[in-house]
Amino acid sequence: MLTIEDAFRKFKKRLELNDKEQQNASRRHSEVRDYIATKFDISRSFLTGSYARHTKTKPLKDIDIFFVLGDSELHYKSKSPAIVIDDFYAALVDQYGQAAVRKQGRSVNIDFGVIIDAEDNTDYRIVSVDAVPTFEIQDYYQIPDVQNGKWINTNPEVHAKKATAAHQAYSNEWKGIVRMVKYWNNNKTHSQKPIKPSFLIEVMALECLYGGWGGQFDREMQALFATLADRIFDEWPDPAGLGPAISDNMDNAYKQQARELLQEASNQATIAIDHVRRGRNGEALRVWRELFGPKFPLS
Ligand SMILES: Nc1ncnc2c1ncn2[C@@H]1O[C@H](COP(=O)(O)OP(=O)(O)OP(=O)(O)O)[C@@H](O)[C@H]1O
Ligand SMILES: [Mg+2]
Repeated sequence: MLTIEDAFRKFKKRLELNDKEQQNASRRHSEVRDYIATKFDISRSFLTGSYARHTKTKPLKDIDIFFVLGDSELHYKSKSPAIVIDDFYAALVDQYGQAAVRKQGRSVNIDFGVIIDAEDNTDYRIVSVDAVPTFEIQDYYQIPDVQNGKWINTNPEVHAKKATAAHQAYSNEWKGIVRMVKYWNNNKTHSQKPIKPSFLIEVMALECLYGGWGGQFDREMQALFATLADRIFDEWPDPAGLGPAISDNMDNAYKQQARELLQEASNQATIAIDHVRRGRNGEALRVWRELFGPKFPLS
């Protein structure tokens, strides 16, 4: 029978980006870039966010593409951020149709109509991308934030460096663990995502995974869920110290609910660990599967 350690290794592997998915992402990037460049002055564009840092979970949705606006688009900077979002939206609707395109606070989402099966597989295709209009300012970027009504600063380079440092300090297990907790966050058994935005999970993991890799996934998960529950009410600033706090999106009621769900996850983990101690491996696998969702293997 599959050991818990092997199950977690398999689970981790299933959440890793593979070559086919990267090819599909890069093909979609080129396709969207080629189109956007016919409508706006784009100096360059690149895949970024959790996708580029390898902290995105499966299925691959909302892959961020920064579109760096050129000099002839500078007029947008003095306008409300909603204007550039509206204009990107209108342009993308012309190409992809209204049903596939959605305005968001900091980007426009394009859905490629990919079907996600019951096992969360997509035949190695990415489901959607977030097109983010941006201005490059020396070594950081400005992106529109409709909710705040202003352009906010961000530095994806710093986020990437911090993730890499955390990963290395954790015996190269940190990113895998972050993807797993993000997968738990997406589990359809929750009526809504316990934690939002899911970037907050990564930001909290920069501090909440400490003391070094202990060598056992089940114990790491139990401790991490407990620590996340303890610290969900803390203020979590942008790790690059530029943008608004990452914890700004949840009000107290939402945080309270997140705390309860995280505590429940930690309790489930304790139960799973106890099953193994009593020789009930199959039971333990089923608990983890229920906690995470269909990509956690039972065999
Ligand atoms: N409040 C913020 N201030 C500064 N930069 C931010 C802020 N929120 C997000 N970012 C940057 O923008 C990127 C894209 O944001 P997004 O919410 O899509 O997160 P993500 O890390 O890509 O996670 P997900 O896996 O949910 O897509 C982040 O990876 C981060 O680099
Ligand atoms: Mg993203």
